[in-house]
Amino acid sequence: MQTGDPKIIFGADYFPEQWPEEVWHDDIRLMKQANVNMVNLAIFAWALIQPDEDTFTFGWLDKIMDLLAENDIDVCLGTATAAQPNWLTEKYDDILFVRESGEQVAPGSRQTYCVNSPNYRRAAQRLAKEMATHYKGHPALKLWHVNNEYANKNSMCFCSNCETGFREWLKNKYVALDKLNAYWSTVFWSETYSTWEQIHTPRASAGGRNATKLLDYKRFLSESFYMLYMEEVNVLKKTTPDIPITTNFEGDWSKFDHSLFKDDLDVVSWNCYPNPLDPNARKWVALRHSMMRSLLGKPFMLMEQAPSQVDWYPININKSPGLMRLWSYQAIAHGSDSVMYFQWRASQKGAEKYHSGIVPHFGEDSRVYKEISNLGNELSKLQDIHGSTIDAQVAILMDNDSWWSVDNPYGKGNKSLDNETFWAANGQPFPTVLLNYFGELEYYFNAFYNLNVPVDVIPVHYDFSKYKVVAAPLLHMIKPGFKEAVETFVQNGGTFLTTYFTGLIDEHVGVFLNGYLGPLKEVLGVTVEEFDPLPLDGTNRMIMAANPDGFKKEYGCSVWCDVSHVTSAKTLATFGEDYYKDYPCVTESQFGSGRAYYIATRPDADFMHDLITKILKDQKIQLHDLPEGVEIMKRKKAGQEIDFYLNHGKDAIKVELPKGNYENILTQTPCKHVLQLEKYGVAILRRIDENGK
Ligand code: GAL
Repeated sequence: MQTGDPKIIFGADYFPEQWPEEVWHDDIRLMKQANVNMVNLAIFAWALIQPDEDTFTFGWLDKIMDLLAENDIDVCLGTATAAQPNWLTEKYDDILFVRESGEQVAPGSRQTYCVNSPNYRRAAQRLAKEMATHYKGHPALKLWHVNNEYANKNSMCFCSNCETGFREWLKNKYVALDKLNAYWSTVFWSETYSTWEQIHTPRASAGGRNATKLLDYKRFLSESFYMLYMEEVNVLKKTTPDIPITTNFEGDWSKFDHSLFKDDLDVVSWNCYPNPLDPNARKWVALRHSMMRSLLGKPFMLMEQAPSQVDWYPININKSPGLMRLWSYQAIAHGSDSVMYFQWRASQKGAEKYHSGIVPHFGEDSRVYKEISNLGNELSKLQDIHGSTIDAQVAILMDNDSWWSVDNPYGKGNKSLDNETFWAANGQPFPTVLLNYFGELEYYFNAFYNLNVPVDVIPVHYDFSKYKVVAAPLLHMIKPGFKEAVETFVQNGGTFLTTYFTGLIDEHVGVFLNGYLGPLKEVLGVTVEEFDPLPLDGTNRMIMAANPDGFKKEYGCSVWCDVSHVTSAKTLATFGEDYYKDYPCVTESQFGSGRAYYIATRPDADFMHDLITKILKDQKIQLHDLPEGVEIMKRKKAGQEIDFYLNHGKDAIKVELPKGNYENILTQTPCKHVLQLEKYGVAILRRIDENGK
């Protein structure tokens, strides 16, 4: 992406329309003072830009665009389509999305539109076209910001347009109704369809719903969001071919398959809102940054973060001094080339008035503004980092289809243990509410992250041959080609790792017969006969078969036990309890020059630590044993490594450095042997020679 000079982008969502014009000049002064070099403009300004169907008014936007250009502040211009104006909603009765209950959502907020409303889509395209035509060639325009957080509030819709669209999508996919009936196995419960019109959106029924239909509906809606995006992209590309395009993701990939957007994004951008009350916030953040970086395999943009507190967690504590800076550097350390915020000036009125802003209600003398402007100044001196990359040797595979098939496909779902609530909220029958696709992925990510090893999190269909270790937790669905890709990868020396409830279904949700793990049975050298979900507090024991170096004799496990049989694998650990006592719970298969591991349960964290340590060491991947709370990430540019040391702890700490001479880029001072990090301290080191070069 070319957004002007190569630099770390620093800025915010800016809503000048909320303020009288005289404030704008003060904004510019404060932006300059804070080294802001880009703002997101017009994101929710549709009603102001198009007050009625036939009128477009750009006066106020022209003024602020010009003012920003005069002050060398770039604009990432919103196409303004995330919140439609009331006149549009009133005029067409299909604009608002419909909940599963059949009730149409009330207007009065953003993302109330239905992704398949032809009237919304036509109006959105028209607006994008007007915006592009009007701002083509404007010196401030450096990046397009299409819509805002697709599917955040409107990921599921059950309206008649979605129903018709779904039928068309199904016709396209299955061509003949017989084929659909066969793949959906509608022979059960007399669900057989004799006309396409009998197919409705998969609303809650009397009991469990057809899992293939549910999955197809999620796939259809996911593609609908992509189509919606592309309609705007096509208009923008035609009118302003040189301006790069992004859309800011919210970060919850269960709402749609983000990999659909891959080829049509010039840069990935996302909004990162960890809860400062969460003791694992840094891990939460690290995983999501890794997902964003891995989508295109290049630097991403941190498009929004809170200057201090948000206003939508149940309790919204602020970011205490130093935390905002630390998390900003964490984003850069994980591959972001920007640090941006929502929003520039805290709103005085309206829905988000208690959400923090860079310029708080208190004004420029506030702690928050001072911390952010100090960071802006610091970042303006760090231009060498821009464009540097991260070389991960480990990848975790993520699959939306497996996710939607394992969890409730209706978003986060209700994990209630009370039977009635469970049925009322649940989409499809499954073995246990304790199954949690993303939670398991997070568990594996953290096992690597705790050892300070960078991990790419890539969609399952990406090429993973360049990595040394690939983990695919809970990969429930195995699609054509995956078996061969894994076998070649392991054959060539890679390490593959997977878990329970993997390899049960094909892409049409049909169960593989004659042993779970299905197409992965050969490479793993093991097959699964049956599974046994454990009660809420249920546990089993994992007994190590031999006494290998680096392992204890036994560990605990929970959630689930597979009853499995090895064919060619070696059993590393067996279960210690129940009728499957002595059956394998961890296996290792030598396949070609690589190894494939299978874990039949959810091991406790100490086992994860020991196993992942072994796997990394076997593959000669460098892990870093750092004091608790300290993180290291490395970016690379022109052969030079840039080491980020981040102290997430509340106490100052000393870190031993690997042999060599370093320069701390932030302080421009040399350092050696030991690094002193303050509470929330950050150091960015590059190696230098003895002469300081
Ligand atoms: C984001 C959204 C912003 C703002 C922010 C508040 O999800 O894109 O417009 O609402 O949350 O935290």
